[in-house]
Amino acid sequence: MKILVIGSGGREHALAWKLAQSPRVKKVYVAPGNGGTATETRVENLPITDPQQLADFCIAEDIHLTVVGPEAPLAAGIVDYFRMRRLRIFGPTQGAAQLESSKAFAKAFMARHGIPTAAHRTFSDAAEAHAYIDTHGAPLVVKADGLAAGKGVVVALTLADAHAAVADMLEHNTYGVQHGEDGARVVIEDFLDGEEASFIVLVDGRNVVPLASSQDHKRLQDEDRGPNTGGMGAYSPAPVVTPEVHARVMREIILPTVQGMAAEGHDYTGFLYAGLMIDPQGHAKTLEFNCRLGDPETQPILMRLKSDLVTVFDAAIDGKLDKMELQWDRRTALAVVMAAPGYPEAPRLGGAISGIPKHADDLHVFHAGTRLEEGKLHTSGGRVLAVTALGDSVRMAQTRAYVGVRQIAFEGMQFRQDIGWRAIKR
Ligand code: AMP
Ligand code: GLY
Repeated sequence: MKILVIGSGGREHALAWKLAQSPRVKKVYVAPGNGGTATETRVENLPITDPQQLADFCIAEDIHLTVVGPEAPLAAGIVDYFRMRRLRIFGPTQGAAQLESSKAFAKAFMARHGIPTAAHRTFSDAAEAHAYIDTHGAPLVVKADGLAAGKGVVVALTLADAHAAVADMLEHNTYGVQHGEDGARVVIEDFLDGEEASFIVLVDGRNVVPLASSQDHKRLQDEDRGPNTGGMGAYSPAPVVTPEVHARVMREIILPTVQGMAAEGHDYTGFLYAGLMIDPQGHAKTLEFNCRLGDPETQPILMRLKSDLVTVFDAAIDGKLDKMELQWDRRTALAVVMAAPGYPEAPRLGGAISGIPKHADDLHVFHAGTRLEEGKLHTSGGRVLAVTALGDSVRMAQTRAYVGVRQIAFEGMQFRQDIGWRAIKR
């Protein structure tokens, strides 16, 4: 059978790589793909992004199922459209994807259903937002309402930072957020202290199957300093998600979300990603929902998945996840992201990449922002590569990944030296 993956990042490379290993799969198309998916075995890039043309392709080529990687096509309603064309697709509808595409929707939804999250207020009026900041005091977190590729969040430790963030988001739209019909809005929420984890599950409308836990590294620099990014590295499993924390998150966050969405007429299908803040007592609060897999979390998670991913997606699309149990490699997987110079503010692209190590059982370099031109690899996006390794411990996976990283070169490359540090410190 043939499969279609929509997207062009490291997450989509990992999905395509994993799907292509299924004995049931003849070809995985990635639309539009990148320099890594261009050379992966049984994977082929498809230079199409228009949903109508993609649906035409699926019909013409008898594509068995489609998986959507990024949030933008989901928020634009590609699942609704494919279903209308009677095509098999895994992802949430436009209505369900509001959990990610609108922070205001997500916060109001969590309040309606008693799902733990930071207390918040939503503002469209800048003067009111500034006044609220002065009465509340710092620290505070200011979030633009809309899709901002992980960059529309400012953790303001001082009043001045909080005021500046409101000015940026409501007055100047510095982050280039796509606004809804009501114009610019910000969510201002209480600062939460603790350790973050990514909790991602598969949902078929009613049944939920959790993926292995993971932890991302959002800040650009070592020791979690510097600006927020889309993610500079990740590993799985995340020891902060103990069996007790896991059970509590399923009970207090995931199941109420899936049931609440169904009760509100948005049967949730697809990946559901809860970004968690876990306090020292093991109580988790939801920082955000994403309606997709995480990037770079997907790369280590899928390195550890032993089950056939096509079978998993078939069960999910057919509403049979209650019959599904996933098998995991007991080792740790760890991914180090290599980013372009100037990332995240203004990445400089086009540099030649050399030295990518050969794939091995315990090492795979997933491409994100790369392009293959006349057989040569160049950078084409802010996050360029995710060097992903398996090891018997976090430390061993880390060592193996950095051996891979040190073989690779491109001008101005940026990467963190400390991916996995929280798990190693434990
Ligand atoms: P978000 O896109 O909402 O997950 O926010 C991006 C990052 O900002 C998160 O991964 C956290 O590191 C940080 N953050 C967001 N909300 C809060 C909060 N209420 N308290 C502390 N840190 C936060
Ligand atoms: N790595 C964070 C995200 O995918 O949202």
